[in-house]
Amino acid sequence: MRTIRVHLGKRSYPIYIGSRLLGQTGRIVRSLSLGDCAYIVTNARIKRRYGRALATSLQRSKVTVAWALVGDTEQSKSLAQAARLITGILKNCRSRRVFIVALGGGVIGDLAGFVAAVYKRGVPYIQIPTTLLAQVDSSIGGKTALDLPVGKNLIGVFYQPRLVICDTNAITSLPLRQIIAGMAEIIKYAVICDPIFFKFLEKKYPQILAKDQGTLAQVVSRCASIKARIVERDEQETRGLRTILNFGHTLGHAIETAGGYRRLNHGEAVALGMVMAVDIGVRLRMMPKGEAIRIERLLKSCGATVQMRGVSLSKVLRAYVHDKKFVGRKNKFVLLRGIGKAVVRENIPLGLIADVVRGRS
Ligand SMILES: NC(=O)c1ccc[n+]([C@@H]2O[C@H](COP(=O)([O-])OP(=O)(O)OC[C@H]3O[C@@H](n4cnc5c(N)ncnc54)[C@H](O)[C@@H]3O)[C@@H](O)[C@H]2O)c1
Ligand SMILES: [Zn+2]
Repeated sequence: MRTIRVHLGKRSYPIYIGSRLLGQTGRIVRSLSLGDCAYIVTNARIKRRYGRALATSLQRSKVTVAWALVGDTEQSKSLAQAARLITGILKNCRSRRVFIVALGGGVIGDLAGFVAAVYKRGVPYIQIPTTLLAQVDSSIGGKTALDLPVGKNLIGVFYQPRLVICDTNAITSLPLRQIIAGMAEIIKYAVICDPIFFKFLEKKYPQILAKDQGTLAQVVSRCASIKARIVERDEQETRGLRTILNFGHTLGHAIETAGGYRRLNHGEAVALGMVMAVDIGVRLRMMPKGEAIRIERLLKSCGATVQMRGVSLSKVLRAYVHDKKFVGRKNKFVLLRGIGKAVVRENIPLGLIADVVRGRS
């Protein structure tokens, strides 16, 4: 088992990474004295596969278990679902010391984290991410979020988990499409700050796609450690450092919104957003063409789509202008000067952005 610590003073927490860690959850939770009633937020599919191992481990450590099942789509990140979960806590764990367990992908992590943050002004929660994307990204850093019909992640607070358990064994049941989505975020870490990791990925991506447990543990650890170091320096994205994690997300979110959150998943949209951000860098002569080609080649080799299909260009541009990263009339973009060198630039001409999006349509 590998351990990475997120150092945030009193809000510090460990991330444990390894195969078959689910069965150790009870022991770890006990050692942290998180509470005696685990309110586990998950969906039916994940409960069927991993519920028993988790519940048994918790119950062996004298922790009572209550389940809250939510739907299996982005639509679950809603205020109505949050209210339903809170009512469920009151019903099932009222007289006990409750802590919340997010067992699932980023949707469940964002929703359960939000509920933990607001229920009685905050109860402990732990993340047990079961998608590759959630293991390398969304379970770490304390961003919680709900969507509104008008846009994604519009409601949310920063609220750190007390523990993250990344069981690479959970990835074995993950469909290839979700693995590819996770690969997009993994490649993001490499291109923003770690050229050696990028070379590693160029060599080892087939093992990741094949869900090799050792390689997965290596990759999840590297990404978790990059994210932890960035979050430690800029927990609430006020110092501009955490912003580089948004590489590929400015246009990525616009693409996700334009597709109604159904056509493309988060990772697929981010892959497209990244090639577009790379295109902008090349057009501005900020980055060498050869490095742009390497990034696109790696994304394609991993199965990511680098050409936007089935999403309307005008919808993407409209969603982009409404994005929360578009402050006043100024826009902000994370671009690359090369692999491993992310920079934040403002005022990228709208005409250039439209051109680049058109070029990928
Ligand atoms: N909070 C953050 O910092 C942050 C960062 C990135 C993304 N996000 C959010 O995360 C969400 C995307 O997360 P995601 O990509 O994990 O998607 P997801 O949570 O929708 O999960 C994708 C699919 O995989 C299934 N699944 C999950 N684990 C499985 C397993 N082990 N085996 C088989 N199927 C499994 C789910 O049921 C679902 O159908 C978005 O809402 C995005 O906004 C948040
Ligand atoms: Zn993301």
